[in-house]
Amino acid sequence: MKGLISVFDLKKDEVEEILRLAKEFKEGRKEKIEASAVLFFAEPSTRTRLSFEKSARELGIETYNVSSSESSTVKGESFYDTLKTFEGLGFEYVVFRVPFVLFPYESIVNSLDLRLINAGDGTHQHPSQGLIDLFTLKEHFGEVKGLKILYVGDIKHSRVFRSGVPLFTMFGAQVSVSGPKTLIPRDIEVFKVERVFDNVDEGIEWADVVIWLRLQKERQKDNFIPSETSYFRQFGLTKERYKKVKYYMHPGPVNRNVDIDYDLVYTEKSLIYMQVKNGIHVRKAIYRFLWNG
Ligand code: CP
Repeated sequence: MKGLISVFDLKKDEVEEILRLAKEFKEGRKEKIEASAVLFFAEPSTRTRLSFEKSARELGIETYNVSSSESSTVKGESFYDTLKTFEGLGFEYVVFRVPFVLFPYESIVNSLDLRLINAGDGTHQHPSQGLIDLFTLKEHFGEVKGLKILYVGDIKHSRVFRSGVPLFTMFGAQVSVSGPKTLIPRDIEVFKVERVFDNVDEGIEWADVVIWLRLQKERQKDNFIPSETSYFRQFGLTKERYKKVKYYMHPGPVNRNVDIDYDLVYTEKSLIYMQVKNGIHVRKAIYRFLWNG
């Protein structure tokens, strides 16, 4: 596979290579890649788009931004034809975020002379975020093996969850989930989670680290929760829960007072800022990893 669409395509030694490169970049590795990249974002993004852009520029990769509203997709051009156009224009990388699942992505990736990097496709995958979370856990805890990780919240719509779990379990962590029954996927067992905690407080007691997920308001078509206030009370990181939680993460953007209490986003137990900072190094590693591939 020339690109990075799903973490399921990565072998353990490849993940280790990306983590090694990310660590070297964090420690000051300097490198130049003579290439150009299109950043095509059809959904809003702050940290993913900017960190893919900044990391590319630091590597000497020329970047070009296209939002879907100003591309010819609004005139009916398909995503495949858009990618084919990027190929024809001679770009080496395309970083994309789209609201739909790219399917069947293997044939798309293999039919194009491009390094495609998935920055989030619908509810499917967000591989760079999964790698950032793995890198951050390894950096903070030293070892992921045996770590107890609890995801809380909107599991059903989360491409971050779908990208993190396979990576964490690959390195020997145990993963559990907690959230409203309506936001737990019916096929949760396919993710090989240890436990599904109906009561988040029991999950917090079990976990070494909790990853709160954003309640994805843009994908809530069916009234999955009675209200944001009741959701926060039942599953959010409240001041009461803060006393019991050991460490916590959140991929961002945080809905304050829905996912996490207004005052608790940046605290000594929070690894959220570390996740953001590691985004640059991990995304540099992804560009570098794909350059030879
Ligand atoms: N974590 C994440 O994907 O954030 P953005 O939507 O800001 O890119």
